[in-house]
Amino acid sequence: MKKAIVVGASSGIGKELAIILADKGYKVGITGRRDQLLLNLQATKPGSFLVSCFDVADVKNVPACLQHLVDDLGGLDLLVLSSGTGKINPTLDTKIEQQTNAVNVTGFTAVADWAINYFDAQEYGHFAAITSVAAIRGSRFAPAYNASKAYQVNYLEGLRQRAFHLKKPVYITDIRPGFVDTDMAAGNVFWMAPADKAARQIFGAIENKRSVVYITNRWRLVAFLFRLLPGFLFKRL
Ligand SMILES: NC(=O)c1ccc[n+]([C@@H]2O[C@H](COP(=O)([O-])OP(=O)(O)OC[C@H]3O[C@@H](n4cnc5c(N)ncnc54)[C@H](OP(=O)(O)O)[C@@H]3O)[C@@H](O)[C@H]2O)c1
Repeated sequence: MKKAIVVGASSGIGKELAIILADKGYKVGITGRRDQLLLNLQATKPGSFLVSCFDVADVKNVPACLQHLVDDLGGLDLLVLSSGTGKINPTLDTKIEQQTNAVNVTGFTAVADWAINYFDAQEYGHFAAITSVAAIRGSRFAPAYNASKAYQVNYLEGLRQRAFHLKKPVYITDIRPGFVDTDMAAGNVFWMAPADKAARQIFGAIENKRSVVYITNRWRLVAFLFRLLPGFLFKRL
């Protein structure tokens, strides 16, 4: 039985992916801060899910929480990091920006580093993280969110380069969704993928050990066009 952890499985994309992994026969460690939501998910398939409740921004605790969960699972083949936060912030409230960085930058780094060190030591494994199409350019609506996603994309590229040089079968997948119909995307109305559809595509990308994938595929074109847009035009959007 393969073992996986989904960090941020209490709702949204992470929850749907955890369900797919369990259906495919994985034993899945599910994490988040909202323990009741995790326990509800566990109750749907008690033999398949193990719950661990922790805040990724509490970085001192992250390694111990993950190690404890892996001990309970009896090993680890795949870790998917879905935890993330981001709010529209028109007044540039610094509390919102700092909280976004605490989860999407500091918490992300703590989980990523733990996973890569674990997989390096056992000489195989797969780390996948949900970044975003938002990583491609800045945003006046949520500056920290887009900047933190750019950090994640860049960090994963560094980890992929590192894995290549270490010549171990440790795979890194960067999953870049456009809009997915979850609490986080509330208010967006176009090109919204249902969370279960997004999760199915993400599972396929993980199975195929893809390096970078856009969810859904049409967002690859959007990202391409966004990259091409010169700064003097982009700032007018
Ligand atoms: N929905 C979209 O349109 C979209 C687009 C691009 C990228 N994404 C990315 O997809 C990922 C999942 O988001 P979602 O759309 O599925 O939204 P969601 O339903 O709000 O899920 C967010 C998940 O992150 C967890 N989380 C948030 N803060 C946390 C913290 N401090 N510690 C631990 N876990 C934390 C939440 O669990 P708890 O609240 O229980 O802690 C929840 O499980 C995020 O990284 C997001 O940036 C989403």
